Amino acid sequence: MTDTASTASGKPEEGESRRDFLLLATSTVGAVGATLAVWPFVDQMNPAADTMALSSTEVDLSPIEEGQSITAVWRGKPVFLRRRTAAEIEQATKDDSASMPDPQTDAARVQKPEWLIMVGICTHLGCIPLGQKASDPKGEFGGWFCPCHGSHYDTSGRIRKGPAPKNLLVPPYTFVGDETIRIG
Ligand code: FES
Repeated sequence: MTDTASTASGKPEEGESRRDFLLLATSTVGAVGATLAVWPFVDQMNPAADTMALSSTEVDLSPIEEGQSITAVWRGKPVFLRRRTAAEIEQATKDDSASMPDPQTDAARVQKPEWLIMVGICTHLGCIPLGQKASDPKGEFGGWFCPCHGSHYDTSGRIRKGPAPKNLLVPPYTFVGDETIRIG
């Protein structure tokens, strides 16, 4: 099942469901829709470094359906959480041996293949890539696309084309339940 989208005006498009506006209740943060405009604002709200060092974020993944992504916040950073489809997982593992700037297998980037969890900050100059919404461009490899300078990430969040030097970072996280994770 794929997620759906809304127009820039917020007016629903046909087929839109309320899952587009899913908010996950977590112990420390609320989910936010990450945009380039939001990022500087979020960054200014960062707590002091000593507070950040201690913080972790717990996220209930169960409301996220297959093919859907949400964005949480951990230590002031957007974290992309995607419940991947079988096709996305298959594509990611098939490409394990492909030539790429920062070679890494898909298995090295996930604890459970279904769940891809990454810091949503482009490793080039720090923009927030597009691809969280169904209507977003997802680049040439079906994952995420950073429009700032044209970096394309695949369905494992690996950089495949463009100036970004590294894959999207996988943060430290632990499954504390079947579908609950603690990031940090
Ligand atoms: S910041 Fe993403 S391509 Fe430059």
